[in-house]
Amino acid sequence: MSTSSSTAAEREFKKEFLKIVFFVFAVLLICFSIFFVNHQENNEYIIETLELNGSAEEGDALFKINCVGCHGITARGLVGPDLHSITQRLNDKEIIKQVTGGLTPPMPSFEIDPVNMSNLLKYLHSLE
Ligand code: HEC
Repeated sequence: MSTSSSTAAEREFKKEFLKIVFFVFAVLLICFSIFFVNHQENNEYIIETLELNGSAEEGDALFKINCVGCHGITARGLVGPDLHSITQRLNDKEIIKQVTGGLTPPMPSFEIDPVNMSNLLKYLHSLE
C-alpha cells in the first residue's frame, strides 16, 4: 500500500518536474528567437544603410533638425561632443549604432530610415 502511494507521488513529482523543464525550455526558446530576430533586423538595417550612397546636403538638413541642440550648429560640440573627425574614430557601423541605439544617454535613440541614415553618415564624413 505504502509502496504504491509513494510511486504515485513519485510519478506526480516527475510530471511536475517535466512540466517545469518544458516551461523553462519554452521561455529560453522564445528569448533566443526574439534576440535572433532583433539581431537579424539590426544587421539588415546596417547592411541596407551601408549599400546606399547618401547626400551630404540632405544629411546636413537632418542634422540641423535633430542634432544641433546637443552637438552645436557647426557640430563643434555643446552638450554632446564635437563631431569633427568622428569618422576617423568610429566606423560607419558604430556611428549607426550610436545614432539608432540610444546606448549613451542623454543622447536619444533616433528612428531613421536607411536613406536618411546614409545621408547623415555622408554629412558626418564631410566634417573631416
Ligand atoms: C539630447 C542631446 C543629443 C542629441 C539630440 C544628439 N546627441 Fe549625439 N551625443 C550626445 C551626447 C551627450 C554624446 C556623448 C555620449 C557619450 O559618449 O557618453 C553624444 C555622442 C554622439 C556621437 C559619438 C561621439 C563620440 O565621440 O563617440 C555621435 C556620432 C553622435 N552623438 C551623433 C549624433 C547625431 C548624428 C545626432 C542627430 C541625429 C545626435 N547625435 C543627437 C547628445 C546628443
